[in-house]
Amino acid sequence: MSYSRAHKCVILAQDFYLMIKDFKRTKLMAKIIAVANQKGGVGKTTTTVNLTASLALVQKRALLIDLDPQGNATMGCYIDKHELELSVLDVLLADADIKDCIQKVEKIGFDVLPANSDLTAAEVELMNIEGRELRLRNALAQVADDYDYIVIDCPPSLNMLTLNALVSANGVLIPMQCEYYALEGLSSLIETIDQVKSSVNPNLKIEGLVRTMYDPRNKLSTDVSAQLIEHFGDKVFNTVVPRNVRLAEAPSHGLPIINYDRSSKGALAYFSLAGEVVRRVRRETKAKRTAAA
Ligand SMILES: Nc1ncnc2c1ncn2[C@@H]1O[C@H](COP(=O)(O)OP(=O)(O)O)[C@@H](O)[C@H]1O
Ligand SMILES: [Mg+2]
Repeated sequence: MSYSRAHKCVILAQDFYLMIKDFKRTKLMAKIIAVANQKGGVGKTTTTVNLTASLALVQKRALLIDLDPQGNATMGCYIDKHELELSVLDVLLADADIKDCIQKVEKIGFDVLPANSDLTAAEVELMNIEGRELRLRNALAQVADDYDYIVIDCPPSLNMLTLNALVSANGVLIPMQCEYYALEGLSSLIETIDQVKSSVNPNLKIEGLVRTMYDPRNKLSTDVSAQLIEHFGDKVFNTVVPRNVRLAEAPSHGLPIINYDRSSKGALAYFSLAGEVVRRVRRETKAKRTAAA
């Protein structure tokens, strides 16, 4: 073999190595989903906990981040919010190592970066920090390779915490209750998403809208649902989460629905939603790879 041929082989091997590395990177980087809607009580926390649990059930490495000072997602993940030594607050304000703040919860099969009412302080204190909207994103860069999915539960407001979630995420999932005022406020959320997209996070997109607490016998529900589909087309997930008392009971046991009543309608709905999310993400990744080729 001449030197130049050997040299070419080395270059080819290097190219191949870089390709594999690149492939691995696209494969391994977590899909980060912010579950957001500035309305309270629309099913954000229920969706975050149960979507993450369903993703974990299909062997996806998943991390849930609680960004709501109410700490409901934390409590719904078998963690006592009153007993936290480290929380998301320490990541946002105190430069704590995110890996030290994440809890592995064997019982539910996924990891949690918890929160409690201390997080209320972050809203004000973040204002005095440079790069305040990038705090979560910078921290997540250290663990993005460790997970397939990172799902963030946002507070019911478009504040600095929600902004941190939107700046970190590559998809926004919007839970919607099909009620009279459902569409009110949606435009300010979409405006905020557009602003974040055109400034710091060009990769951000609306992953989809999910109809929650749905009652097909209620004409208002079906009317609002039809309006959503008219406005947002296939951005509306096919899965509809029904009103299901088991979903409301599960958090009082500190458990996702899958661990509480796996055969309930609520569990099946969130399992189906996770399937849709995985298929959408797979399509996106494939399209990105084709575009990059
Ligand atoms: N599909 C559902 N069926 C019945 N109750 C639900 C359902 N989704 C949520 N809930 C209940 O409705 C309340 C509000 O839901 P939650 O997920 O906390 O909303 P958000 O996080 O948007 O404030 C909670 O008490 C929750 O248990
Ligand atoms: Mg909530």
